[in-house]
Amino acid sequence: MSAREPSAGSGPESGDHGPRPVVAVVLVAAGSGQRLGYGMPKARVPLGGEPILMHALRGIVTSGVAQQVCIALPPGDGTLRKMCDDFKGELADGGPLLTIVDGGATRTESVRSALAALEEGTQAVLVHDAARALTPESVFHRVVDSLAAGALAVIPVIPVVDTVKTVEATSDEDARIAPEVVVGTAPREKLRAVQTPQGFDLGTLMKAHREAAGFDEAQAAAITDDAMLVERLGVPVHAVRGASQSLKITTPLDLIIAEGLLEGPLGARWVEG
Ligand code: C5P
Repeated sequence: MSAREPSAGSGPESGDHGPRPVVAVVLVAAGSGQRLGYGMPKARVPLGGEPILMHALRGIVTSGVAQQVCIALPPGDGTLRKMCDDFKGELADGGPLLTIVDGGATRTESVRSALAALEEGTQAVLVHDAARALTPESVFHRVVDSLAAGALAVIPVIPVVDTVKTVEATSDEDARIAPEVVVGTAPREKLRAVQTPQGFDLGTLMKAHREAAGFDEAQAAAITDDAMLVERLGVPVHAVRGASQSLKITTPLDLIIAEGLLEGPLGARWVEG
């Protein structure tokens, strides 16, 4: 099967960029959601009456950037699989191809499984966390616009509002004073909090993942996003503006905030100026 024709339009923020690549979105949704404490995979947790996964999936499809969406689900999760199958039926003709794969034990493994299932002809891939269920369309467009303009790797970022320090555990003799001691303060104006979708030239991301395949357990555990792997290749990773409502739903507080965004006076897809 070959990749589908690019879907129409690149959204209100599209500018004067190069030809749009054939884009697939990898949606990683195979996490356990332990920190959310719902006793079920995070993708199934209800948000405004609908599972987190469905919000994420609808956001991608509405953006119109993808010719294929490849979803990594917890292996053996029949409920989520059925949801995705039902959603396939909902998609009008011309919507993206929906592919489902079993996720792995780590996020990186889930991404790898999904990359292996992308259609021939795919030129660029956006890797997106299902946990960022409310990412506005404009962020998808900014990432794809940057790829169309020549970026091999691009990530959405937001400024950091807190002062960020590095710490170490205190020595035994100081342990009664406090558990940790500060060893440095990062310059806040240069710090960015990194979100998804992260966009890549497909060949570049495949190479980055191949090089990481031999990592030991500690190295593998330290990989928290795909851009880190591409940075190791020496490829420049560009940054575009993300959105604060694209928060990663991780803790019960995040879920309350996400519910508030959906129910609040500003509306579900509120986008800050
Ligand atoms: O665990 P973390 O918050 O980093 O997860 C980020 C995203 O990666 C979530 O959307 C989660 O479902 C996904 N993930 C995955 N496979 C795993 C672990 C996490 O798809 N084994």
